[in-house]
Amino acid sequence: MMEAFTYAIECTGLTKKFGNFTAVDSLELKVRKGEIFGFLGPNGAGKTTTIKMLTTLFSPTAGSARVASLSLIGDAPLIRAKIGVVPQEFALFVELTPMENLRYLGDLYGMPPEKTTKRSEELLNIVGLYDKKDVVCEGFSGGMKQRLSVAAGLLHTPDILFMDEPTTGLDPQSRIALRELTAKLNSTGITIVYTTHDMEEADKLCHMIAIMDKGKIIAQGTSEELKDKYGGGHRIVLKVDSHTPELLSDLKKLVNAAAVSVVDHTIDLRVSNLSGNLVHKLSAYLTQKRIAVHELNLREPSLEEVFINLTKKDLRE
Ligand SMILES: Nc1ncnc2c1ncn2[C@@H]1O[C@H](COP(=O)(O)OP(=O)(O)OP(=O)(O)O)[C@@H](O)[C@H]1O
Ligand SMILES: [Mg+2]
Repeated sequence: MMEAFTYAIECTGLTKKFGNFTAVDSLELKVRKGEIFGFLGPNGAGKTTTIKMLTTLFSPTAGSARVASLSLIGDAPLIRAKIGVVPQEFALFVELTPMENLRYLGDLYGMPPEKTTKRSEELLNIVGLYDKKDVVCEGFSGGMKQRLSVAAGLLHTPDILFMDEPTTGLDPQSRIALRELTAKLNSTGITIVYTTHDMEEADKLCHMIAIMDKGKIIAQGTSEELKDKYGGGHRIVLKVDSHTPELLSDLKKLVNAAAVSVVDHTIDLRVSNLSGNLVHKLSAYLTQKRIAVHELNLREPSLEEVFINLTKKDLRE
């Protein structure tokens, strides 16, 4: 028998207002158990506010949510035991060492000291900070601090880990390391809610993606689904010396393009898919007509295009 999906998180009409301003607007959101759920959106979209409600730091103005099968209204302390948070801002003590930070947190969680020590050593190994476990965090790089935050978020072995822009401000090496760490953690079964402004990262890492803008979810799906639906289609881009209206019309027919546009010497054909056959057809035609082509590129829609198409280009506060 097929087991019904079990959800790690279910929001119903979840809303947060600050005065008259609605930061999160009647959110309906479901996160499946065991997935990496990407939560994307421009600055000020309401991602952190949502995460703060789901992690019991903000109480909702209206609506409700179930987190780890517990109600946000009433079961907050029980939820806290089931979730871990890697906050957007570094929230540990720089004047302490990783071990001291984790011991302090272990005490807060009421963990027995021996258990805290064992678990801390295990985690510092996983995040690659074991060598630095007794070094004061003050001089740590951004990447090291973030990895320590991940260890802290995992200390009490939560079922769900919220990671709010964990890779922002990190160099490419640290970003890749953290992304790999996240995938590895997820493969052990932990559900991860992940926010990022890096579309390529979201594309690579997340099983499901929700795009939020102005407090609302405006699209949700797998990266492939979103690209199919909002990516603006596949394109063939050609650079030629010169072109005529006939050429454009022939090319359009040849590849069965939905649209053709031209900027200077670049011809842009929108097609429904990019089968290898199209390129052959084009090359044969262009050779026959003796048209010199300087560039021929096939462009798949990217998640970045999806994001811009959905949230538009205007800058946010
Ligand atoms: N404590 C607060 N008091 C008043 N307004 C707030 C508060 N926290 C957030 N806001 C506002 O709510 C909106 C959503 O903010 P939030 O931090 O959730 O956005 P975000 O999607 O996380 O953005 P970013 O990508 O910049 O982190 C913003 O307009 C912000 O100014
Ligand atoms: Mg935020």
